[in-house]
Order: sequence, then structure tokens, then C-alpha cells
Amino acid sequence: MDTNAYLRSYIMFILVLFLCAGLWFPSSKLNLEGSRPWRISRGSISKSHFPKPSHHLTRTPHHPLDPLTIPEINRVRSILSSYPPFSPAFPAIHSLSLDEPDKLRVLYWKKGDPLPPRRASIVALVHGQTHVLVVGLDSGRVISHAIHAGSGYPVLSTNDILAAAEVTLTDTEFNKSVAARGVELSDVACITPSPGWFRPDEEGRRVIKVQCFSKQGTPNFYMRPIEGLTVTVDLDRREVVKISDTGGGIPVPKGTNTDYRYCPKDRTRRKDPINPISLEQPNGPSFRVEDGHTVKWANWCFHLKADQRAGLVVSRVKVVDPETGRWRSVMYQGMASELFVPYMDPEEGWYFKTYMDAGEFGLGATAMELVALNDCPRNSYYMDGVFVAADGKPFVQANMICVFERHAGEIAWRHAESPLTGFKIREARPKVTLVARMAASVGNYDYIFDWEFQTDGLIRIKVGLSGMLMVKGTPYEHVNQVPDDDPHMTGGLVSENVVGVVHDHYVTFRLDMDVDGPDNSLVRVDLVKEETAPGESPRRSYLRARRRVAKSEDDARIKLKLYEPSEFHLVNPSRTSRLGNPAGYKVVPGSNAASLLDLNDPPQLRSAFTNNQIWVTPYNKSERWAGGLTAYQSKGDDTLAVWSERNRPIENRDIVMWYTLGFHHVPCQEDYPVMPTVSSSFHLKPVNFFESNPILGAAPNLEGDLPVCRAASSF
Ligand SMILES: *[C@@H]1O[C@H](CO)[C@@H](O)[C@H](O)[C@H]1NC(C)=O
Ligand SMILES: *[C@@H]1O[C@H](CO)[C@@H](O)[C@H](O)[C@H]1NC(C)=O
Repeated sequence: MDTNAYLRSYIMFILVLFLCAGLWFPSSKLNLEGSRPWRISRGSISKSHFPKPSHHLTRTPHHPLDPLTIPEINRVRSILSSYPPFSPAFPAIHSLSLDEPDKLRVLYWKKGDPLPPRRASIVALVHGQTHVLVVGLDSGRVISHAIHAGSGYPVLSTNDILAAAEVTLTDTEFNKSVAARGVELSDVACITPSPGWFRPDEEGRRVIKVQCFSKQGTPNFYMRPIEGLTVTVDLDRREVVKISDTGGGIPVPKGTNTDYRYCPKDRTRRKDPINPISLEQPNGPSFRVEDGHTVKWANWCFHLKADQRAGLVVSRVKVVDPETGRWRSVMYQGMASELFVPYMDPEEGWYFKTYMDAGEFGLGATAMELVALNDCPRNSYYMDGVFVAADGKPFVQANMICVFERHAGEIAWRHAESPLTGFKIREARPKVTLVARMAASVGNYDYIFDWEFQTDGLIRIKVGLSGMLMVKGTPYEHVNQVPDDDPHMTGGLVSENVVGVVHDHYVTFRLDMDVDGPDNSLVRVDLVKEETAPGESPRRSYLRARRRVAKSEDDARIKLKLYEPSEFHLVNPSRTSRLGNPAGYKVVPGSNAASLLDLNDPPQLRSAFTNNQIWVTPYNKSERWAGGLTAYQSKGDDTLAVWSERNRPIENRDIVMWYTLGFHHVPCQEDYPVMPTVSSSFHLKPVNFFESNPILGAAPNLEGDLPVCRAASSF
């Protein structure tokens, strides 16, 4: 593609986005830049310490796992255009990304070696059927082509969302329903919730729900629902299937003071403003990004890329052994595989809200450009995503990942000796970490994903939730008007006429751990209570750690339990420490939540990968998406839970661990009109992986090392 053609397609993408937003805000001018005075333009972002990776147009891949480049995507598109089954009618492309080479080839590849053959994996829809293809870029041929047999449809495209809104907004009956609520059609902003899978009458065709809001007087239209008005649209026939209007009598909430954009007068509301704060790195950042995707920092090295469905993917994660100076493998690949968000309301306008955001909408596809200085500090490096639109053309999702060094004032290790011992020792080391971050805005909700690396070998995976609640209109303005048993009150009153419906979030991570190589075992270390024999000890009871090696998938379906505690180690049985302990990493859960839905509730069947917090499966290249390849309207026939039922052996083999991070959310007034970030995380922590504390030799900060910034009160 020549430069002009590229620019045209880039502009087309902007237009698509704008149109898309334009349908949500049909008559207003969308202010993409917001009104924040300090918002940084793209020009100044690229003035960071890091040169932008060479221009996307001429980029070539350098690593076997590098995502497809723009020239490669264009080549795939031209190969598909002349592929007889796809010409002259080019299908709708729902996914087009690198078909990663076999793991062994990647493991044996070294920098400087030729790349393994580049292949693209394509999911396309033709007459309601899902086609899965692999195209060889070197051979210029379609290598495989199959019609997907399982239930469900591929991830939505922007065209689908546009079509659903357009079909709805031009429907006369919808127009009447909106008018009956006293809302002008020009003030209507619509979202397109996925329908889940429930009923035979929605089976066999691709449908979507459309629900609308009034954006009159506020950009935060989410807080002004036209309650109970739900349109079901057939996505392929592009027609309204059904309009359900059950909310007559429920007023559209007023939405006063819901505009969340910054305006300088807000400063006066805060008595003691926080002075601007930033991290100084007088000698510049200490990480580098080689060839666009390989991040090297302190004792870590990993490959980082954006993915249209998973969002952010880290691969080939290696850490230096301080004893030998050698790189040691920790993880082959880690990523968010699915995100399940069930709302707890069985009513007509709500029951279907049981999203699977990665498989239905795409976490990368919904990750917008990060807000410099606010989403990420000044010392950040930004990485773009190169994605593919429904017509098979590439587009750039600019600055959607940031990488930065973080110093949060934490302590890496310390000890102070009491003078009573005769030693005068005070030793402390500052903790500095490296963060790779992305934020997906899946409609109303924002999900912040952090992969944080510590020099002591720990990896922290953190999810933050912010954005807007999905709220329900109600006639009530005060809790004293609400009868005790009102079944419509499926959450708390968060503002006049606004209910914050109770809901859950479950993020399932796929962690292909390779601790010192692919062949690993799961060891459960159960803490069990031992009781002493009478007279044996003044103590009645104590805890003992008992190790159990998981033999097959049955042994590795784990529910977290406070009163039956365990540690979960992934060890390499053939790599032992000087003392004979197997080298391992353990998954350390943080605060978590479990789904309490009935196991046979359709949304829980589809998201059965949340039935346990931890699963271990044998590595299988095609078992990547915990909710199945085609999660949209799926019936749950291709989930992690189904794969695990095979009960395959998992001892001393290449295995994959799955961890689900859950949240229950009972909304409160502080979540209105935009939610302060709530986060939770889990850790991957070395256990007997290093011979001893790997950061013993880390240097402390000394007075001369740092610029001076003292608290004013200390003068
Ligand atoms: C909606 O209805 C109004 C009259 O009630 C009519 O003037 C308008 O053209 C209609 N719009 C659409 C898109 O059907
Ligand atoms: C790999 O996964 C796919 C999808 O679950 C399955 O059909 C296939 O049998 C699996 N292969 C092995 C060797 O388990």
C-alpha cells in the first residue's frame, strides 16, 4: 500500500470511530480531546526519551511473536481477495492476527536467526457461518480453511455495532417509544449490549440488544437510561426483531452534575489541592524496548504486544539468575483470556447482561489512547496496537499500552537492629518496579490492566475498575419510598431515580508458565492442622505444610478457601536448587470473589471457566480463549471447564495455569457519576527458584543520587 492509501485507510478508521461515537451522540460535536487544559497532544507524547518504533508502514517483524505488521496485514488481505471462495464477495473479517508459530520453534529461536514462517489466523463470517483460516505469508496461500463447528459467533466488528444502532434509530416503533418517554430522537444515545444465550428464539441467528439513554445536558448519558426499552436486532439481516418497552412510568433520571470532564472552576471545591507530582529519573529511564516489542529492564526481559481480543500480551518472560548471570524462563505467555460480567437482575431489560467482554467486544479493540501524565507518568514509553477492521484493512490503535518504571515509595527489603544487640545497623532498599499498562473502555466500564515486574522476581497482575456504572431507572428518589420487597430494586439507590445494579466482574488470565522450561508440575502445598498427643507439648495444635503433586486436570480445579489454606506452586521437577528443592513459582491470590450463580444458569454455563479460581490444563495451542473461540451467543460447549473435563495428565509436562480474579460490586453513591478505581491483584512469586534473596546486593539510595524534593512542612 502506498503512503496515500495508508493515510486514507487511517482516516477511514478515524471516521469509523467518529461515526461510531456519532451514533452514540448523533447530533452533537464529539469533543475527542476532552476539555482538560493539561491534556497532552500526541506531538508531545512522542517527545519522550524513546524514539517511536519505526513507522508502521515500513515495519518488519523482528521476533517470531511480533504481531502482524501493516504490510503483512495488507498482504493477507490481498491473498484472501484472490482466494476463490472469497471472491468476488469478500467476507466480514472478525479477527485477523498472527498465528503464533509452534512453541518449540519460538523456544529455539535466537535473535539473528531467520523468523519461522509468518502466518495469519483469520476468523470470518460468511452467511452466518464462522470460517477459520490460516494464511501463509511466505507461500501466499491459504494453508487451512474450516467451518467452525461449535456454537456461537466471533467477536463483534465495528460495522456490527454501527449497523445495530442505525437499524434501531430508523425504526418507527422505536421512534414512537422514545417519543412516549418525552425524549427527542436527536438526544438519544445507544449502547449495544450482547444478548448472551438464553432462548431458542434467538438461536441460529446473530442478534444484539440495543438500549438507549438521553444525552441531553450531559456527556454522561449512561446516568440517564430510558429504562425498560430494549431493541433486539438481527445483525446479519439488519432488521429489528423485537422491541420490548416495559419501563413506561419510570422517569429518565435528570442527570444533573454528571458531567465528569475537568473544568478549572472545580479546583475551588478542594481546600488543599495536591501539588503536581511526578517521578524524576535524572539519568533517564533504565529500561529499553528493542525492535519495538522486547522490553529489557533490570533483571527482566519479555516480549510485549497489543492484541485486539486479549488487549495486552506478555511472552517469553525471563529473569536473570544473580548467581550465574544466565537468563531463566518464568513464563512463556500471559494474557487476559476472558472477562465475564453478570448483572444480578432477572428482568426483561436486564437478564441478558452477562457480558464476555474479550470474546464479544475485544479488550484491545476497546482500549483507547492512554491519557499522558494521568493514565501513565511522564517517564512512560507508549506502544501502539496494529489491528484489523471488518474489511480486512489495518488500522493503528495509537498509544494503547504504556511501560514505565514505578517508585511508589515502597520498601524492597529492610532491617534495623536494636542498639541493645550492640550492632548499629539500619539497612533499607527502595522498591522500584516496571509496569506495562493498558486500559480497555468496554462501553461504560473501564478496565485497567497492569503487569508489574519486581526485581525480587515477583510479577504482580492487577486489574482496576473505573468508568460508569450500568444503572437502572426507578421511580424512587429516596430510600424511604422503597418498599422492603420491591423486586425491581436490584441494587442501591445511587442518585434520584437511579439504581446501581449489583454485578460481578471476573477476569480469567491464561498463564502459560514455563518455569526453567516447559515441563512443570502443579504442587499443592496444603496447610493442615496437626494436634499434639496429650502430654507431648504445651501446645495443642500447629500447622504443617503437606505437598501434593497434581496428576491430572481433576486435581487442579481449585476453589480458594480461607479455612483450608493452600499454596499453589508450579515447579520444574528436574531443576532443583543447591538444597534439592524444585525451582518454582507460586500463584498468590489477593482479594477475590467467586461466582454464586447456579451452575446451570445459561450465563454460568457459558462462563464456566469461573467455576474455579485456578485450573491447570496441558498446553494446547488452540485452547487460548477460556470462553471459547466464538464466545458471542455461545452455549458453553468450548470453555475451559469442558476442556478440563478430559482430565488429561498434567504432571511434569508443558502446562498452562488459569487464574480468575473476581469482584462483587454493590454500588454506592460514591460510584456516581463515575467510579473511583477499585483494584485487585494476584502475584506470581518465586519459590525456591533463586538460591537466596536475589536482591541482597541491590544498592540503597544515597543523598547525592536524587534531586531534592522535601515536604514543605519539614522546612
Ligand atoms: C420519528 O417520528 C417523528 C414524528 O413522531 C417523525 O417526524 C420523524 O421523522 C420520525 N423519525 C424517524 C427516523 O422515523
Ligand atoms: C487441543 O484443543 C482442542 C480444542 O479444545 C481439542 O479439540 C484437541 O483435541 C486438543 N488436543 C489435545 C492433544 O488435547
